[in-house]
Amino acid sequence: MFKTYAEYYNDAKLLYPSSNPKKDVYEFTHEITLPGQKSEIIENITDDFYKLVDKVAGIYSERLSDNDRCYWPPGPDGLKKEDDIVRMCKDIIDVPDIENIVSIIAPQIEKNLYGSYMQVQNIYVYRSPVTKVQPRMSWLWHYDNHPYEYMKCMIYLTDVGENDGPLEMMVHSDTGLGAKHKSYRTSWNNWRAAPNNSRFTEKQIEDLEEQGYEPKKVCGPKGTIIVFNENVVHRANIAKENDRDVINFMIKPSTEKLVPYLNKEYTGTFQNKDMFTDPSHRGLIFK
Ligand SMILES: [Fe+2]
Repeated sequence: MFKTYAEYYNDAKLLYPSSNPKKDVYEFTHEITLPGQKSEIIENITDDFYKLVDKVAGIYSERLSDNDRCYWPPGPDGLKKEDDIVRMCKDIIDVPDIENIVSIIAPQIEKNLYGSYMQVQNIYVYRSPVTKVQPRMSWLWHYDNHPYEYMKCMIYLTDVGENDGPLEMMVHSDTGLGAKHKSYRTSWNNWRAAPNNSRFTEKQIEDLEEQGYEPKKVCGPKGTIIVFNENVVHRANIAKENDRDVINFMIKPSTEKLVPYLNKEYTGTFQNKDMFTDPSHRGLIFK
């Protein structure tokens, strides 16, 4: 049988040179690094990083403005795709500098968060265009119901204010930690859909508020980096003033050092399945 995710992660730590991460993966909820700042995980970001972000933001912005280069999620009847909540970029890893961006951030996540090598399982680039449609899918409060070792790393490609579709999380006002929900998919021996499709009801949000959590929108300029555990209660917001573009990559520990980080053999995107009961799985499965 497969290893569990916890067993596999343990192996991955043993195979990583002098593993001594600053964070405990199971305690970690999220970390935000604004341009010009350093944080515990992302401790070393140079101007080169922001130059690369500018460069790829321009390329992806063109692609995201071209209907032929985008995908749309299934939508309500009668909704024109141009008016929808999100548009997703079809081709991502053929842009050469995206590997350079990931290879600045990933070694810091490996060293400071995982204490192991990591795999970029999937990478997504998408735009939240200004629209009047109603929230659905990830625009409702939810957790991702993935194994606890999975994280996401989001990089803003546009300046994101309150009304520009920021990511939002439930964060404790004293501890600063996100509200992490139990996952129903932890390993092959515990793998099921979450109740209510892992959406949070208004009552559940009120309960969190009673425990001291409050909704916190992550605003920041182009180049803001957000690393977060996928089981933190979060949602996307509808952009009201300006379109928001992001890179978002989904990561998990790896026993192997993968070079390059992004490779069409093992890094998928919207068309690909995003998780597997076998933590050592490599290769893409089309949905
Ligand atoms: Fe999500």
